[in-house]
Amino acid sequence: MGQQKTILRALAGETLDVPPIWMMRQAGRYLPEYRATRAEAGDFLSLCYNPELATEVTLQPIRRYGFDAAILFADILLVPQALGADVWFVTGEGPRLSTITSAEDFAKLAPASDIHETLNPIYQTVRNLAGALPRETTLIGFAGAPWTVATYMIAGRGTPDQGPAHALKAENTALFEALLARITEATIEYLSAQIEAGAEVVKIFDSWAGSLKGADFDKYALEPARQITAALKARHPGIPVIGFPREAGEKYIGFHAATGVDCVALDNSVAPDWAAEHVQSAGCVQGNLASSHMVTGGADLVTETRKIVTAFSKGPHIFNLGHGITPDANPDNVQLMIDTVREGRIA
Ligand code: CP3
Repeated sequence: MGQQKTILRALAGETLDVPPIWMMRQAGRYLPEYRATRAEAGDFLSLCYNPELATEVTLQPIRRYGFDAAILFADILLVPQALGADVWFVTGEGPRLSTITSAEDFAKLAPASDIHETLNPIYQTVRNLAGALPRETTLIGFAGAPWTVATYMIAGRGTPDQGPAHALKAENTALFEALLARITEATIEYLSAQIEAGAEVVKIFDSWAGSLKGADFDKYALEPARQITAALKARHPGIPVIGFPREAGEKYIGFHAATGVDCVALDNSVAPDWAAEHVQSAGCVQGNLASSHMVTGGADLVTETRKIVTAFSKGPHIFNLGHGITPDANPDNVQLMIDTVREGRIA
């Protein structure tokens, strides 16, 4: 029996006539049905920890659009919370966390093996989804990469340049590396539990990888991704892993080989033709339409979508945006993107 699900076929290295498609943040505020369920939950974190409602919002974009994959509805900041950090969201501003800047702060964190009690509702959402998704739809679990998660834990919020994390890295390298190691361990635990609950693929989001330069990129982006991938594949042979070192630029080259991931997700700052030659030559790639097209739509959306499909047509490719869809996007433009990607498909 051949592998049926298109996302799993692409991840196994197969070149498909029509690339499978899903979208980062596909369950989100641009959808009226998401806004309604989120209002019912009260706030964002309550929604993440409510398996019934988190299942519902994960399924909403699958029902509306028939994407080839569903991504678990959760957040990368649940791991810091499970390690004992305070985490809350300020509407219109974003996440806030208690900060880790000293050995005393670090000593208060829980061991990685203690995260499951907090995260059990997330595993329940994964189990619900594994039973509820259409048979052709792949279930993707995820976590933040250690560097990206650390940038929030150190600064206590999102920052334009990840300055506080770079400062701790320079001023107290031992503490910084101990924090990264704790997050790495917790991430292996967390993703492993998602896989046991039914996730068929996992993705590691390193949204701030682009601010790590030179040897720092190798030590703090490549190495943790390699460790997580190796540990997951040792525990769950054959589990496909997607890495997303956002804005890695030239450092996308060699990422598959250095980390062992099955697929490298590309942001939209890299040209598809360049990435086909230098990155897809080493394995499956995912991406990389600018999410602004989901706001503006029209002929430009169609032209750019076709350009990406064509550029990556000679190798394994999963179509996606280069970053998450934004709340001001028009749901009709998402349909136009899907129709454009699938226009060659025989029904
Ligand atoms: O992609 C999906 O649909 C799955 C769910 C998902 C969310 N966050 C839901 C969410 C995933 C995969 C994430 C990842 C995530 N979270 C990242 C990495 C990817 C990226 O976007 O770079 C990061 C950095 C976070 C941290 C985070 N969560 C921030 C900075 C914010 C606030 C910014 C914003 O968009 O409002 C969030 C909130 C968040 N996470 C929302 C959603 C749907 C919006 C919350 C709401 O409903 O108000």
